[in-house]
This record gives sequence, structure tokens and C-alpha cells, in this order.
Amino acid sequence: MCGIVAFVGTRPASPVLVEGLRKLEYRGYDSAGVAVHAGGDLAIVRAVGKLSNLDAALAKAPLAGTVGIGHTRWATHGRPSEANAHPHVSGPVAVVHNGIIENHVALRHELEASGVVFASDTDTEIVAHLVSRALAAGAGSLEAAVTAALGRVTGAYAIAVLSKTEPDVIVLAKDQSPLVLGIGEGELIAASDIPAILSTTRDVVFLQDGEMAILRRTGATFEAKLRTVSGEPVTRAPKRIDWSPAQAEKGGFKHFMLKEIHEQPRAIEDTLRGRIDLTAGDVVSQELGLEDAIATSIDRVYFVACGTSAHAAMAGRYWVEALARVPATVEIGSEVRYREPVFTPRDLVIAVSQSGETSDTLAAVKAARAGGARVLAIANVLDSAIPRASDGAFYTHAGPEIGVASTKCFTTQLAAMLMFAVWLGRRRGSLSVERAKSVLEALTHVPSLMREALEDDASIRLLAKRHLKARDMLFLGRGIGFPIALEGALKVKEISYVHAEGYAAGEMKHGPIALIDDAMPVVVVCPRDGHFEKTASNLAEVRAREGQIIAVGTKGDEELANLVAKHEGDLVTVPPSAPEVVHLLTVLPLQLLSYHMADLKGTDVDQPRNLAKTVTVE
Ligand code: G6P
Repeated sequence: MCGIVAFVGTRPASPVLVEGLRKLEYRGYDSAGVAVHAGGDLAIVRAVGKLSNLDAALAKAPLAGTVGIGHTRWATHGRPSEANAHPHVSGPVAVVHNGIIENHVALRHELEASGVVFASDTDTEIVAHLVSRALAAGAGSLEAAVTAALGRVTGAYAIAVLSKTEPDVIVLAKDQSPLVLGIGEGELIAASDIPAILSTTRDVVFLQDGEMAILRRTGATFEAKLRTVSGEPVTRAPKRIDWSPAQAEKGGFKHFMLKEIHEQPRAIEDTLRGRIDLTAGDVVSQELGLEDAIATSIDRVYFVACGTSAHAAMAGRYWVEALARVPATVEIGSEVRYREPVFTPRDLVIAVSQSGETSDTLAAVKAARAGGARVLAIANVLDSAIPRASDGAFYTHAGPEIGVASTKCFTTQLAAMLMFAVWLGRRRGSLSVERAKSVLEALTHVPSLMREALEDDASIRLLAKRHLKARDMLFLGRGIGFPIALEGALKVKEISYVHAEGYAAGEMKHGPIALIDDAMPVVVVCPRDGHFEKTASNLAEVRAREGQIIAVGTKGDEELANLVAKHEGDLVTVPPSAPEVVHLLTVLPLQLLSYHMADLKGTDVDQPRNLAKTVTVE
């Protein structure tokens, strides 16, 4: 998401900060800013849009200081604007932040009640006020004030803090958002990611969760002190980085898509953060952007989406029907306008879109509103066109997705939709507190189960190698396994240019079975999701036509392992989980399979031919 750079040296800080931010552009951003110590004061320059706008603003007002912090913001709380751009200031303090402060609503109310006037809509500004108040209350040092402030916030953060009161100091802290420290010759730098550091130094120290770093210049001496937030000293020797600049941007992964596949556990954590109340077995309404009354005033949920988002919407339909017992339907965005659809005020239309800009989905949203329907957007990009055109927005917080083939946006959409279905079911009385609790709890386990599933990366590459010559592939699934099969096939088509079809397993005998022969790999999604027995029977039918089976099942499922062995197929497994969330896991091996097939074929994985990440034309 956002990018942070901090610098303490003897040369002017602002060019170093802007150059570092430029290396973090790949993370996505919509505004940028810097704060530099200058003549006993803090000089702040911020600009909406690209870094060239910040450059232009700095050219008008050059900053001379040698200690400063910089930031690129990817909006999560509050629209992209200069007021919401970082650094945020309170009294003598300036703060940049990457991440989400989970308890921002409560803290904002508390601060406002005590007279604080906010200058922005951001959660970050809270941190600035907390640090500044701690200083005013006699914390004694910036380090102590930041420590006190961190005691109040929960959530994910990497922060860098300056104070007029200590012009030679930067205090950094991190919990769940990345922060890396660079130890240069007579200078210190810190950033959200390695590329921003490499032109200053290759010697880096990775900060761990719950740690702080205090960068200090004393005369000609530069010191980086590490400690935990709770006060224990930390000693960690720097590591030498020898990545190429391109590798560095991708966090050491060969492609953005692979990086984004591996980012999914973190992305899901960000999607869930602050939204689940396990004690009440409920989803926090405020986060959804819809008033509770809508839940009981609707007769139908109507999903609209395109591409991968439409597959996520198909999964959403199953959950809305199963958990909330509301009739639900899915329509492809581009088809809505040809359907002469009938929308009424008793419809809730859910527009699902990672970019929030897809023109066909946007047109459907406008048609729905014209028909009097209420519209909820499930989107990844804050304040994009679809959320703006909707009544409410539920953001997925996956962070920027660079690879054209969507991966982390898909699974975070699934998580958002499952939360929505629980919210709806609880308000309609169709979902008991106990069941809601068990579904939500299962969802909170998904990130760690995903980490485990992604460990199979190397064996899936071998599988991809074995099936590299395939010209056609079939993907089968039942229940939510069906949209997962569609998504697996789409991924293969998009990036490895192999013809692939996704089918409902029950439909196999109505057509695709005619295509199966010994050259056809058939991926069967058959975990323990309540449909196992039926889907497993497809394995025998495929093998009877000499198709090559690739089964995606549950780890430890002996029955499946024996069946697959008997049919001389390949087995890929995901860790056991509750049936409601199992398909957030089964899609991972399919993403990896498509990635490795494409990589082994040498296609342009991140920018496949003819495809665009954001489709703003009809
Ligand atoms: C394009 C992208 C896909 C995406 C689809 C819908 O085709 O390449 O990855 O699924 O558009 O985009 P949206 O932004 O609305 O989710």
C-alpha cells in the first residue's frame, strides 16, 4: 500500500526522500509528501497525484534540511487529497504511516471530545495527535512520546515521526507493516521496502513486529538504536542485499503476480482487520457503509461484476443464499445493459470490482440506481468511480495489485463477501449467533492456512512442468468449487495462453466429456466441502476417458489420495478448514499452477498480451 522513506544525513534530505519514493511507486499511490527539519521548524510539502507534482511543488519551495520523512499514500481512510496526504502534523510533530489503525473510530471520538480539531479524514492523523499530546504531557523525548502513543493504537502500522523539539532524530516503529533500515556511510535511511534504500546502501536491517528504531545524528556520529515497543534493547547485524533493482521492487520474487500470490495471507488479514466481532458473532456495520435497515428491506441481492470479480461474485451468491437465505443472482457487467433488467427499491445490487473503474460494471451500477435499487460496492481502490456511484462501499484493503491477472484482489473479495453474507444473515435472523461465530472464526484462521498452502509452491512448479505441453485444460468444481474452477481456467488462459474451460462438475457429462482424451489435463476441485462424494465420482469418469487428473483436495484425505493414486493422477492439497472457507484455499494452487505454466513457457506474466488491468471501455 503506502510507501515510507526516512533519512538522516549530511546532504539535503528531500532529493533522497523523493528518489526513494520513486522506487516505491510500484506499490501504488495517489498522493505524496515530505517533511524536513529546516531552521528550527518543520517544512512540509504535499501534492495529490504523481511524484512529478511533488517535484514541481518542491522546485517552487526547495527544502534545505538534512533530516526528513517522505510518503506515498494509497488512500484507505479518506479520499485522495492534499489534506489527506502525509505527513500529518500536530503541534511540533509530523508523522507518516503505512497500514491501518484499527481502533481509529474510538480514538478519533476521544480526541475530538477533548478539543482536537482534525485536519484530515485519515487514521494516521490520530497518531500525530497522540504523540504531540504525549510530548505536551511531559513525555520527555520523542522516543518516549511515540512509545506512549503506540500504547493506545491497535492495528497494522509502520510509522516515521519527526518533532521540532529534536531536529536530529527520527523515531520509527512497526507492527505488521514492513519497515527496513539502511545503514549507510555517515547516513541512515529507512523505508517500507528495499528498492528505496539501495542507492544509499546495501546494508540493511529488517525491523520485526513490535520494534522501534531511533535514528540519531550527534555531531558527525550517526546511530540507529533498536528496541522493542515495550523497552527491551534489540541487537541485529545488518544483512547485505545483492538483488538487482528490478528484483528488489518485486520483493525478491520473479514477478509481481508471484509476489501478490504470496501476499494473500497478509492481504486477508488487512481485509478482516477491525471488521469482525467474534464475541458477538457479527460483522461491524460501520465498515460496510450500509445502514442496518437495508438488510431487512430487500428481497434480492443482485451481484454485478466482470472477469475475476464475477467469479468472486458467484461465490458470494452461494454464501448470501446459504447464510442469509436471500435470493441472489449474478450478472456479468457487460450483459446488464442487454438484459433490460428489472431493478426495484427492494433490490440490493452489489458491484464487485478490484479497480472500481470497470466501465461495464459502472454502467450496471447506474442502471441499478436508476431503477431505484440500493448499491453496495466491493472494491479495492478507495474513492474510485464504482464506490463513488454507489450508496455504500466495502473496501477489500488488498493493497495495490500490479499483476494484470488478479490474485490477492480475488481472495480478499471472497473474504469481504463472506463477511457481508454473515452481516446480512445476522440482521435477517437467518443465521444463529453460534453459526456466525464459527464462520467468522474460520475466516480468521484463513491467513495462517494460506501460508501453509503456499508452501507447496515448488511441487506445483513440478506439476506445471509435467503438463506444460497441454493445449487444452478442463477445470471442474461443484458448489463454490465451480467459480473456483472458472477462476483457475481463467488464470491459465490469461497468462499461459493455454485454452482452458471451467465447468460445473455436474455439467461435465453434458458436453465437455466429449473433449476428454489422454492429452487433456482435468483439474478437479474436490476438497471436503460437503460435495466431496459427488465430485470425486467425476475422477473416475475422467480417467475412464484417459484424461489426466489433477485433484485439488484436503490434506490428510486418505480416500482421495487412494482414488487419485488408482487413477494415476496428481494430487495437490490444502490444509483442512471449515467448509465455508475452504475455497479461499483451493484457489491458491490453481493460481500457482497457472503462474508456473506461464513462467515456464516464458510469457509476459505480469502484462499478458492484449489484457488490461483496468478496463474503462465498453
Ligand atoms: C480486467 C482485469 C481482470 C479483472 C477484470 C474486472 O479484465 O484484467 O483481472 O478481473 O478486468 O476488473 P475489476 O477491476 O472490475 O475487478
